[in-house]
Amino acid sequence: MAIIHNPTIDTLLNRRTIRQWTDQALSADEIETIETAAQRAATSQFLNAWSAIRITDKDIALKLASIGNQPYVAQAGALYIFIIDNHRNVRIAREAGIDDADMTFDSDYTFTQGQNDAVLALHAMETAAESLGLGTVILGCILNDSRAVIDTLHLPEYTVPVLGLAIGHPAQEPTLKPRMPRELQFFNNVYPDDSTTPNITEALADFDNAVSHYYDLRFPDQPVHAFTEQVVAQSTDTARLKKSFGKPARAQGFTGRSF
Ligand SMILES: Cc1cc2nc3c(=O)[nH]c(=O)nc-3n(C[C@H](O)[C@H](O)[C@H](O)COP(=O)(O)O)c2cc1C
Repeated sequence: MAIIHNPTIDTLLNRRTIRQWTDQALSADEIETIETAAQRAATSQFLNAWSAIRITDKDIALKLASIGNQPYVAQAGALYIFIIDNHRNVRIAREAGIDDADMTFDSDYTFTQGQNDAVLALHAMETAAESLGLGTVILGCILNDSRAVIDTLHLPEYTVPVLGLAIGHPAQEPTLKPRMPRELQFFNNVYPDDSTTPNITEALADFDNAVSHYYDLRFPDQPVHAFTEQVVAQSTDTARLKKSFGKPARAQGFTGRSF
């Protein structure tokens, strides 16, 4: 078995997060290309339940960088905040005479659909940008304070910030961050019984070792912890609850039945 190479596959295989850019702005053609590629992404039930806010105002970029506690966000050549957007669809239904009480646009399922749409559009933009030689970072850090993002961007009812995407001409060349062995992430037909890996930390030992040797340009003066150490450290991280609007995922009904 061998990987088949073509420009699309090679773009995907070489993707890595870039957090430092030159001062060169994105050209109008680059913007046109990546935004159009994002719009071409699949969208659940064709509801188009996502939008993206282009951040061109330096003060707003600085505010978002401060919310995310990541200064490089404000230095990107282009910055987008992707949102779940059912506001547009609610307006359409209202204009057709449907009562809010009869609408289903506030269901958990609609939320998930919009989230999926937004992430797929963002990923299409990310891949398009990388295929043009640009470097990107996805920004979950904006969710440190979703309410502040909502206020800063004047997000109306039935919208929720999902992720940011910062893009620019790369000024760093990080090596590829390792990934776990494929057999621990791709399963055949059913989820394997735990007895196939009696100790999952041991099964991940080589990967852990590779991760702790990875040279992370994000914090060059700090060692990178092994993957399993990172998981353990984050398993009791209460900031997670804040990012989910104060409700654990389980309470929001987004997890598997036997979680
Ligand atoms: C949903 C999501 C949110 C992320 N949020 C941030 C972020 O806020 N800041 C950041 O520097 N990187 C962020 N990242 C990038 C991850 O840290 C990065 O993808 C991961 O460490 C793997 O490294 P690689 O992309 O270079 O392979 C995010 C990635 C994803 C998928």
